[in-house]
Amino acid sequence: MSDSIKLAVAGLGTVGVGTIELLDKQSDLLMERSGKRIEIVAVGARDKSKDRGVDLSKFEWFDDPVDMAKNASADVFVELIGGSEGPAKNACEAAIAAGRHVVTANKALIAEHGTALAVAAEKADVVLAYEAAVAGGIPVIKALREGLAGNRIQRLQGILNGTCNYILTTMRETGRSFDDVLSEAQELGYAEADPSFDIDGVDAAHKLAILTSVAFGTEVDFASVHIEGIRHIAVEDIEYAGEFGYKIKLLGICERTAHGIQQRVHPAMVPEEAPIAGVEGVFNAVVTEGDFVGTTVLEGRGAGAGPTASAVVSDIVDIAAGRLVHAFGVPAGALEPSAPASLDDHSGSYYVRLMVDDQPGVFAEIAAELAKHEISIEGVIQRSRSETEAVPVVMTTHETSEAAIKEVLSAFDALDAVREKPHMIRIESF
Ligand code: NAP
Ligand code: HSE
Repeated sequence: MSDSIKLAVAGLGTVGVGTIELLDKQSDLLMERSGKRIEIVAVGARDKSKDRGVDLSKFEWFDDPVDMAKNASADVFVELIGGSEGPAKNACEAAIAAGRHVVTANKALIAEHGTALAVAAEKADVVLAYEAAVAGGIPVIKALREGLAGNRIQRLQGILNGTCNYILTTMRETGRSFDDVLSEAQELGYAEADPSFDIDGVDAAHKLAILTSVAFGTEVDFASVHIEGIRHIAVEDIEYAGEFGYKIKLLGICERTAHGIQQRVHPAMVPEEAPIAGVEGVFNAVVTEGDFVGTTVLEGRGAGAGPTASAVVSDIVDIAAGRLVHAFGVPAGALEPSAPASLDDHSGSYYVRLMVDDQPGVFAEIAAELAKHEISIEGVIQRSRSETEAVPVVMTTHETSEAAIKEVLSAFDALDAVREKPHMIRIESF
């Protein structure tokens, strides 16, 4: 058996360069831990002339990742390009067909094609590894798949997008605008190539779909994730959340319910004293409920060069050390078909902000609609006065159904005194 393992690295952006730097700086440590010298033999990206701040002259260069996947003399193809279709997918398929292990940080690819790629990898007797695809530097895939293998997971909740958590935290702490903070997250290398994936909740949904599959042993079912992003979160919602004792976080939640497996990504108010509320900035966290272990909380940096490279390299070390495991914890052919539950079957508490005319009888109309839909108010704030401008009526509800809240929001929207589409944020307990 060879005493080295050879890598071909496709993609030399934030994560690609971070991975090359880590492999270089920690080479002796990685050899001790894996029993093999880990050696890059080929690299590739679009633009060969770009200065990436690392010496690439000793590696074979490929412009085309599919060519690299087929022809580089590597044991492992490391895909750090991104995107669920096109070059990343074609190259991973080609690498598997050529009998090479695949390590990827690409959640879009695994969320959309994870089951098919895992089936292909098992047929080719190679590994498909994707620790870096979920929650950056937190080793959550290994924790869930190996560390919690003795448990049935009932529910998993997580802060899964570093960009959104960074934006929400910074808006709350500084009062700066959404757009301003988003630009900063892009400069720091946290955001996806298309940042709408981050702020519209798609990136978190990709990660949630992968976690659901590992947690419940089901086929990856990204299409069934209910997705809402954070574009509509206003600074005043963040301030009112604080007055009610909550912080706003973009959460990914999957759970087994009587109606099937529910997967949802949306902004949520979480109690300020809950551990997840203290997870700020680019940090991510995943909270799992297992039947024997109880609650487990994992927290760490969810994006950026160093944390993501740490996760990529952990997969490479596993392969080098011969720790070869099924991508989703069970043989890909044994994954159960997904049985999605509708969000209409969800029940919980809700925050609602209405912008209304400040005139007699308006609150009575609002209260009448709540009574009609059997929704009970838990708390309410209305303190400003204005003859001309709309004023906020802000409330939190006791537990009710998603169907009832949807109906009452439509009823509020139809009232003459309500000037803007009602704002609603779900409240989650921990
Ligand atoms: P990035 O900085 O945009 O880098 C992408 C790299 O892919 C660039 O080097 C680019 O080449 C190369 N590339 C793009 N299209 C190509 C093509 N058709 N052929 C060859 N090379 C191509 O992206 P990143 O942030 O490193 O992310 C890479 C992957 O890691 C994505 O799947 C992302 O979702 C995932 N990820 C990122 C983070 C993070 O914090 N950034 C965290 C976890 C996971 P050029 O440089 O020549 O343009
Ligand atoms: N854009 C992603 C985030 C990168 O902000 O979390 C890590 O997957």
